[in-house]
Amino acid sequence: MDLDIDFVRAQFPAFSEPSLKGQAFFENAGGSYTCAPVIRRLTRFYTQRKVQPYAPYEASRLGGEEMDEARARMAAILGVETDELSFGPSTTANTYVLAQAFRQWLKPGEAIVVTNQDHEANSGPWRRLAEEGIEVREWQVDPLTGHLDPQDLAVLLDEDVRLVCFPHCSNVVGEINPVVEITAMAHAAGAFVCVDGVSYAPHGLPDVGNLGPDIYLFSAYKTYGPHQGVMVIRRPLGELLPNQGHYFNGGTLYKRFTPAGPDHAQVAACAGIADYYDLLCDHHGGPASDPVERAAFVNGLFHAHETALLQPLLDAVKDRNAVRLLGPTRAERRAPTVALALNRPAAPVAAALARHGIMAGGGDFYAVRALSAQGIDPEQGVLRLSFTHYTSAAEVGRLIEALDQVL
Ligand SMILES: Cc1ncc(COP(=O)(O)O)c(C=O)c1O
Repeated sequence: MDLDIDFVRAQFPAFSEPSLKGQAFFENAGGSYTCAPVIRRLTRFYTQRKVQPYAPYEASRLGGEEMDEARARMAAILGVETDELSFGPSTTANTYVLAQAFRQWLKPGEAIVVTNQDHEANSGPWRRLAEEGIEVREWQVDPLTGHLDPQDLAVLLDEDVRLVCFPHCSNVVGEINPVVEITAMAHAAGAFVCVDGVSYAPHGLPDVGNLGPDIYLFSAYKTYGPHQGVMVIRRPLGELLPNQGHYFNGGTLYKRFTPAGPDHAQVAACAGIADYYDLLCDHHGGPASDPVERAAFVNGLFHAHETALLQPLLDAVKDRNAVRLLGPTRAERRAPTVALALNRPAAPVAAALARHGIMAGGGDFYAVRALSAQGIDPEQGVLRLSFTHYTSAAEVGRLIEALDQVL
């Protein structure tokens, strides 16, 4: 069955919002539109439950229960235990806390591996461990293709490596990295694995349990939810790393790496992402089985729709003069996050697209290392065109026409 795009778009108030009419949204990798179930929960929390949660009065009980529901349902979709999932202010804030924990746990002379394909969020915080005498090894992309080759990782791994950090998918290259294979290599060498799933998760919430990493991070504001960072830390690592929360909370796994008080309303509203997945699964006749299988069904619908829309866009830009398409030219190998290096600064071109009713961005997208590694001046940046399952074929057609005008 194909994705019912009209049903999908009816779940997003942005598509019937008069002030957004006539504009097609292609900066989804920066942050997606928010689905109605999330907005409803946020509104309900702020109007009915905005009190300190977990106290013995009704509004508080409901608020606390909704926060617990969000964690339990998101964890079930991701195939992990409820207390292996925690919410923090953002993925960047989450990696900073995790890096602080590793800073205390690692010993001078031990090593970590980072890439130059990552967004800075999964790079800079780890690289700063060098200040403590930790050896930082860089797994480098192919400068021509932006590809990360697992064979290049193999030569960096030895008994000193304690952690390997890499993206499920880069926010400028778009290629999907083989997480299972890379994780197996790192584990075989005795290292833990931290995966930045921020650019991947909007295209299908993954079965993290089966993928295998010890840490998996993504940002709910890009997966149709509120502005939260979602962090999975598998139990063996979470119990091994030193507690970063209040000392008396150290016995509760999901509190160990979230030192600040949580944003109650936004945590609760994350349950709306699970509502949205359920709506899609039921509407399309998906299985009435466990949440991982139901999510896999929904992810399949997303993937088929996105791939069909992506290939014409890739074909329209890949051989254009003075345009360099980053990442694979085949849609199946990548996310619909398409970065183009031009022979001029990208931001004015994005502004020109806006005049054609296309919302897109130009810049470095905090992937400064990934652009530099491919010989692209981060000051000029790239034009980034990113869409998701709720984008229509007509919108992609409109984008292609607008590109003809401005490139
Ligand atoms: C691939 C990737 N990783 C990490 C981040 C940082 O996420 P956050 O804004 O939640 O800190 C971003 C943000 O754009 C991103 O695209």
